[in-house]
Amino acid sequence: MNALAATNRNFRHAARILGLDSKLEKSLMIPFREIKVECTIPKDDGTLVSYVGFRVQHDNARGPMKGGIRYHPEVDHDEVNALAQLMTWKTAVADIPYGGAKGGIGCTPRDLSKSELERLTRVFTQKIHDLIGIHTDVPAPDMGTNAQTMAWMLDEYSKFHGHSPAVVTGKPIDLGGSLGRDAATGRGVVFATEALLAEHGQSIKDLKFVIQGFGNVGSWAAKLIHERGGKIVAVSDITGAIKNSNGIDIPSLLAHKEETGTLKSFGGGDVMDPEELLVYDCDVIIPCALGGVLNKDNAAEVKAKFIIEAANHPTDPEADEILSKKGVVILPDIYANAGGVTVSYFEWVQNIQGFMWDEEKVNHELQKYMTRAFGNIKSMCKTHNCNLRMGAFTLGVNRVARATLLRGWEA
Ligand SMILES: NC(=O)c1ccc[n+]([C@@H]2O[C@H](COP(=O)([O-])OP(=O)(O)OC[C@H]3O[C@@H](n4cnc5c(N)ncnc54)[C@H](O)[C@@H]3O)[C@@H](O)[C@H]2O)c1
Repeated sequence: MNALAATNRNFRHAARILGLDSKLEKSLMIPFREIKVECTIPKDDGTLVSYVGFRVQHDNARGPMKGGIRYHPEVDHDEVNALAQLMTWKTAVADIPYGGAKGGIGCTPRDLSKSELERLTRVFTQKIHDLIGIHTDVPAPDMGTNAQTMAWMLDEYSKFHGHSPAVVTGKPIDLGGSLGRDAATGRGVVFATEALLAEHGQSIKDLKFVIQGFGNVGSWAAKLIHERGGKIVAVSDITGAIKNSNGIDIPSLLAHKEETGTLKSFGGGDVMDPEELLVYDCDVIIPCALGGVLNKDNAAEVKAKFIIEAANHPTDPEADEILSKKGVVILPDIYANAGGVTVSYFEWVQNIQGFMWDEEKVNHELQKYMTRAFGNIKSMCKTHNCNLRMGAFTLGVNRVARATLLRGWEA
């Protein structure tokens, strides 16, 4: 099922549980604005190439729209729409004063040089600068983008609007980025995992983990789980997958990846078929890469008891049903990976106030937000007798619906 159909299905299910008015339901699903731009740049060899860029602004009832910018070949209209909608529910679940948006460019960043990536980012920013802003829509990094991408966006935006550090988050520290933002999504995933496991009388140090994706989110989650004594038995990225049933030495793997750019040649584990990763023997799977990776083709074979959705929409609705019947507990994306947007919010607050926090305060506040949101989700699960995904969706949708009604939406 495509990402948008899956997201709409979850939203409609939550709207039904909440007994939402059908007109309001329809209105909340329709995005506020969809932007599509052609970004034409000269390549280093002098030839011209054009890429399609998107920014979908889904909803702003609770505050400025907020969401990442993704550079990936599979970026398309439906995917960006789905991710923008998920951001609306995610910021509401985290209870931060934002709406939802998402953007992206359909490209393969690994095939572009640094100067080509810079030109592409600047052209994209030139085309959307009038439609984003500190109190309108605040981009951040996502798959295929990073702090450097945000630095270029900030610089290009500031040429039109004056120095505006709060217009993007996930910036380098030297340009007003927040301490702790780089690790925030992975750290939030670990706080969320701890909250869930505590409910089940378990703890990270006693369990075996599988992590798909070893970029920003996956590598931070792996590092922090390793520090807490959890055993990571398999890891993959775009270059391949490795396994070690005794536990992978994560600091060594990070150093190896830094040095060689690949996981495959790592001596501290055996190469495995990436297809096997999600059905490998473990207690917890943490998908940290693409959407739709748990689907009807592999769900029945999953051995894990817990799935922590660090990636966005990694579980197809068909897989959701199969896994639920097997008793697998799924911690949904709109909560599990909300640590990134939460610390983005802290970064924006610090930029607006012109007063920067130390890292201890950032991490402490993040833990407070993640723990509080878990409690709020569990209350919704109890009230509506539903699973964690619907607990999170009903929490987020209800908050956005309340804000929409208070503002008045039919006039
Ligand atoms: N960065 C954030 O703050 C943030 C916040 C919330 C959610 N997310 C979500 O987390 C996921 C990862 O984001 P990121 O920022 O870590 O991206 P990233 O670009 O830093 O890393 C992505 C990782 O996925 C790997 N990957 C790509 N295709 C793969 C495949 N077919 N099989 C296995 N691995 C593959 C890449 O090699 C890389 O290791 C995305 O779904 C993103 O939307 C990120």
